[in-house]
Amino acid sequence: MILTLTLMNLDAGLITEQTTSNTIMKLNMIHHKKLITLLVALLLGFSSLAEAKGNWKKGRIYYKMVCTECHIEQAGGVISPAEKTKAEWVDYFEKNLHGPQDEPAKYAASYFVSREYRESIKDTNRAAKKMLKIPDDKLLEDVKAFLNHTAKDSDQPSRCE
Ligand code: HEC
Repeated sequence: MILTLTLMNLDAGLITEQTTSNTIMKLNMIHHKKLITLLVALLLGFSSLAEAKGNWKKGRIYYKMVCTECHIEQAGGVISPAEKTKAEWVDYFEKNLHGPQDEPAKYAASYFVSREYRESIKDTNRAAKKMLKIPDDKLLEDVKAFLNHTAKDSDQPSRCE
């Protein structure tokens, strides 16, 4: 938004200058084009940064229907995305440990999004069955995107997933 406004201001400024002299206009046009290219590049850069890699809507379905279902059964209740800040979630997935730390190493955070795990529960879990074909790393990004989207310090912290 701010960048768009800046662009418009630049345009207005350039138009007034253009009326004063043709030479200046030509110089300005070159300058103008460079600036626009730069601003467009910046805009694209910002929007891809702002958007997490994964699809948070898919991540939400998986989190609700797979992660939460087991937390209700085995962890004594829902583990809400708003229990952690964005940075704490990043840290959680970087450490890649899940649940009781004396469990076998395969119970890493990433294990519960893996195809191996989805395969093992597909007969009793509709979401796991439906999302069976999604590659592990892609689904992990989707879940991460959802947790980032609803973390404690996000715009819409979620307490009931
Ligand atoms: C098979 C059951 C099961 C599944 C599936 C499962 N969890 Fe858990 N999770 C648990 C249990 C049990 C605990 C509690 C462990 C403890 O307190 O020691 C737990 C705890 C947690 C915690 C809190 C512990 C911490 O380190 O902050 C987080 C976060 C978590 N799970 C994330 C996830 C995510 C994300 C998924 C899905 C991708 C998931 N879990 C899937 C069983 C499960």
